[in-house]
Amino acid sequence: MTDSTSASASASLPRRIDFQKDLDGKKTDLYVLKNTSGVTVAITSYGGRIVSWLVPDKNGRMVDVTLGYNSLDEYLNNNESYFGTLVGRYGNRIAKGKFTLDGKTHTLPINNGPNSLHGGKKGFNARVWDARSIDDRTLELTYVSADGEEGYPGKLTTTVVYTLSDDNSLKIDYTATTDKPTVVNLTNHAYFNLNGEGSGPIADHRLMIAADRYTPVDETLIPTGELAPVEGTPFDFRKPTPIGERADADHPQIKHGGGYDHNFVLNGGQTATPRRIATVESPQTGIVMDVSTTEPGVQFYGGNFLDGSQKGKSGNAYEKRSAFCLETQHFPDSPNQPGFPSTVLRPGQTYKTTTIYTFSTK
Ligand code: GLA
Repeated sequence: MTDSTSASASASLPRRIDFQKDLDGKKTDLYVLKNTSGVTVAITSYGGRIVSWLVPDKNGRMVDVTLGYNSLDEYLNNNESYFGTLVGRYGNRIAKGKFTLDGKTHTLPINNGPNSLHGGKKGFNARVWDARSIDDRTLELTYVSADGEEGYPGKLTTTVVYTLSDDNSLKIDYTATTDKPTVVNLTNHAYFNLNGEGSGPIADHRLMIAADRYTPVDETLIPTGELAPVEGTPFDFRKPTPIGERADADHPQIKHGGGYDHNFVLNGGQTATPRRIATVESPQTGIVMDVSTTEPGVQFYGGNFLDGSQKGKSGNAYEKRSAFCLETQHFPDSPNQPGFPSTVLRPGQTYKTTTIYTFSTK
């Protein structure tokens, strides 16, 4: 176990040169956004990944709160964990890798039990995005996904803009257009440990999610279609509660997820402008993270599949439940769930969502 002192000692940036490579006929690179209070976010064009995210703790020390690696080669060697990455064309699972749109059935690669997860075998996380530095706070990434790529219909042009502000927030604006009807569900898969990446369990972090309901799943993590009340279950995070308190509760849904790995139905549904949907705070560092989004759902993943086999930036192993993700999204398997908010995008329409992560201390 390391404490927050050694976590903050690791709060330096990876070297740019270790992210500069020729890949799939493109050049990858590392881009650094920095604001006046020193909050720093490093992003690589490979997967549009957030590699480092340095924020001040209650004593003003900089802590790297996101999991990741020091080099592109390490990301190439492990794409399974989706550290910090953009996820598409469809974030989360599609049952049995099949869906029907306008009477036509589409078949996707199966890469997670019997299902298709996070856009398939080579999703947007494993693609080189075209990067354009707009200024020292703003990075624009574009990826054009060919018609039929990973089984999805339509050529999809996706733009993601990362904007760092002086209020210590990182805004992620997603837009996409298509030339044929398709399904889209974009997110970012940053793993957070507010005590510093590689600094052990997140059980003490207090989490609030503004959701009265969640989507229960089968044992392969596909929603049953029900929107179940969180009331009286380990999924009730309406008041701030330590993540570890009920992570092993005797509840069938906790068994299916191996802990928390569930989509929450955010109160208010999809919104035109982002509203706060979650807050996480670490009693140890005093770091507070607010999440705002326009999306109707968020996947709260408790890092159950981390198993200590991967060593991150600070050289420490990423143990089980040593990080959490809050992946803002539409609900899993929406293309097969007529009762869920639609993920269909048609020619002439623009897919548009925004998610903001804001850091403060207390
Ligand atoms: C998502 C899924 C999890 C897991 C992670 C990646 O959060 O819901 O089940 O696959 O991605 O390890």
